[in-house]
Amino acid sequence: MHTLLCGELVDFLADPGDDEASPAIRHQPQGAIWIVDGIIRASGPRRAVEAQLKKTLGAAAEYRILDHGEQLIVPGFIDCHMHYAQIGVMASWGRQLLDWLERYTFPAEAAFADPQLAAVSAEFVIDRLLAHGTTTASVFATVHAHSVDAFMQIADRRSLRMVCGKVMMDRNCPEGLRDTVALAAREIPELIARWHRRGRLRYSLTPRFAPTSTPAQLQLAGELYRSEPDLHLQSHLSENLAEIAWVRELFPHHADYFDVYEQAGLAGERAIYGHCLHLAPREIDAMAASRTAVAFCPTSNLFLGSGTLDVSQLLDAGIAVGLASDIGGGSSLSLLRTMAAAYQHAALRGARLTPARAWYLATLGGARALALEKFIGNFLPGKEADCVVLDPVRIPELGWRVARAETLSERLFALMMLGDERCVVQTYVMGKAALPEFADTL
Ligand code: GUN
Ligand code: ZN
Repeated sequence: MHTLLCGELVDFLADPGDDEASPAIRHQPQGAIWIVDGIIRASGPRRAVEAQLKKTLGAAAEYRILDHGEQLIVPGFIDCHMHYAQIGVMASWGRQLLDWLERYTFPAEAAFADPQLAAVSAEFVIDRLLAHGTTTASVFATVHAHSVDAFMQIADRRSLRMVCGKVMMDRNCPEGLRDTVALAAREIPELIARWHRRGRLRYSLTPRFAPTSTPAQLQLAGELYRSEPDLHLQSHLSENLAEIAWVRELFPHHADYFDVYEQAGLAGERAIYGHCLHLAPREIDAMAASRTAVAFCPTSNLFLGSGTLDVSQLLDAGIAVGLASDIGGGSSLSLLRTMAAAYQHAALRGARLTPARAWYLATLGGARALALEKFIGNFLPGKEADCVVLDPVRIPELGWRVARAETLSERLFALMMLGDERCVVQTYVMGKAALPEFADTL
């Protein structure tokens, strides 16, 4: 099946840095993506791509045109860190991280002992991710193995590229959420066998964070991470000052928080840590040297009062960074709203995040941070055709603002500052419309 997806295309070949005129920014006002069986064959100016398609297929070429006119088509958004069981924890009032975990988060995750709740929640969250234009996420399930099954089953059915894992925690948490080294050692290899590299799925080792795992469990996570090719790893690092002080107490013989993970073999490619707000210079150097990535969670950091981050400092230090909603600490599933919060973090620190860099972070930057750049993140030939179609006019004041914008940068900035899921016209997964209500309107 050959498809020509047409509209205004924007994607990135690399981090544009602060340069609004960087050649890493690709812009085709009248562009097209030629998709064959879900994979991008070519992309570029519509005329050229269509001519190439016709030449290849011959005069009697049969192909489908999905024409989005002047609407903007960008690579599907990538959410590098979120907890699907916490969808109902969003907007829980008045606590900082450690109290918030005890008061709201652990009870919500304990309720996932019910497989039915896990199944219903997984379907709801995946529907909502797609409605927000997010096509890939790195997802914490709960400690219950069936919570991974529930998420992976639905992600697989929808042909999504998703990363997910069972939370490991064997101390400092309620009884009903506690596993053991032995249980994790039995369940996780089974989950890996069931889901890792099935369709587009990847398994991620998911020790919650250093305070809720014994050193023995962190060691196990490190061993499992190296047990098969392409396994991912996700956790939390340096989010909150009380958390950091607690880690210092629990692990007094380590240089710093990241050293706890390094010594357990939890640094390296395909490993990503959420937050990373209060890193020491040594930790930044060690993360860059080990190619360990960061998931920047700007709405969550503001909501939980955890702190601010000038993301450019980490990028410029050579660390791969992606954006993340961190649901339920975060306050929106929208990567547009997340970009807006990322800009505000920089502003609070007297720095500036350029629009191009913000959009890079939500697309190719996320793909790099999750080590999935081979498959997703931009419109290069050979990549999987996950994209989102956006129309600013859907929000009248945004449409008004954009009508006055003179440059692409200005438009992208207005869209990220004022936009949200209302701007999402359609989300394509492997070239197929994923939002059924719009599928027939083309
Ligand atoms: N640190 C450990 N667990 C969590 C969690 O669930 N959410 C956030 N924001 N931080 C954490
Ligand atoms: Zn988190």
